[in-house]
Amino acid sequence: MGQIVPDAVERYLAVLNRAGDAVLEDIARGNATRGLPLVDAEVGALLRVLATAAGATRILEIGTAIGYSGIWLAGALPPGGMLITIEMDDARAREARDNFARAGLTERVSVVVGDAQLKVAKVAGPFDVIFQDGAKHLYTPLLDRLVALLRPGGLLITDNVLWDGEVVPGFANPPHKNADDTRAIAEYNERLANRSELITATVPLRDGVAISVKKRM
Ligand SMILES: C[S@@+](CC[C@H](N)C(=O)[O-])C[C@H]1O[C@@H](n2cnc3c(N)ncnc32)[C@H](O)[C@@H]1O
Repeated sequence: MGQIVPDAVERYLAVLNRAGDAVLEDIARGNATRGLPLVDAEVGALLRVLATAAGATRILEIGTAIGYSGIWLAGALPPGGMLITIEMDDARAREARDNFARAGLTERVSVVVGDAQLKVAKVAGPFDVIFQDGAKHLYTPLLDRLVALLRPGGLLITDNVLWDGEVVPGFANPPHKNADDTRAIAEYNERLANRSELITATVPLRDGVAISVKKRM
């Protein structure tokens, strides 16, 4: 549960959100004890809605972990569509590939193993949707490249932009989060807000999701 939306409201939303996907449910169940920082089903559903609404055929994700958010995203792709998802950790990338296979999505997903800083320089755009959920200190350094990779009218979706509310000075006393990450996210939010090519709205769901559309100039 997040610190922003009250637990009772999150439980209510969780009951409504029954995707009925056995693989997603299995990953979420397994992660209850494991505690990897995956999106929850509510954010997953938001990703699928946005990718579907954008008519996405090419999606880029930074931070695959074990493929949970990737399954939500790839589920929006039509046949022939492609999700490219970047993960630095070898073991997680292997597990993600297994999970994509279990979800029947192998043909639509390419898991790229390596540092996103290097990999996004090599990947070819344009993308309809980009989901940024990698290392927080890289949000700002990667922003220029990700905006360049996005097609006009495409969506840049960023997770954790409210950081359990800690981007708001004094919200948590004492703060629980790493102060460098909190500063990095606060700086990123400022950059997003000031980017003339983007229009951004932030949804205070779970840990905060920023949705930015690249203007059609
Ligand atoms: C928040 S988790 C991603 C969760 C996933 N999007 C989900 O919700 O299912 C962030 C992931 O980014 C990976 N990561 C961190 N730094 C990275 C980097 N420089 N390049 C690529 N991946 C990175 C971590 O290993 C971790 O698995």
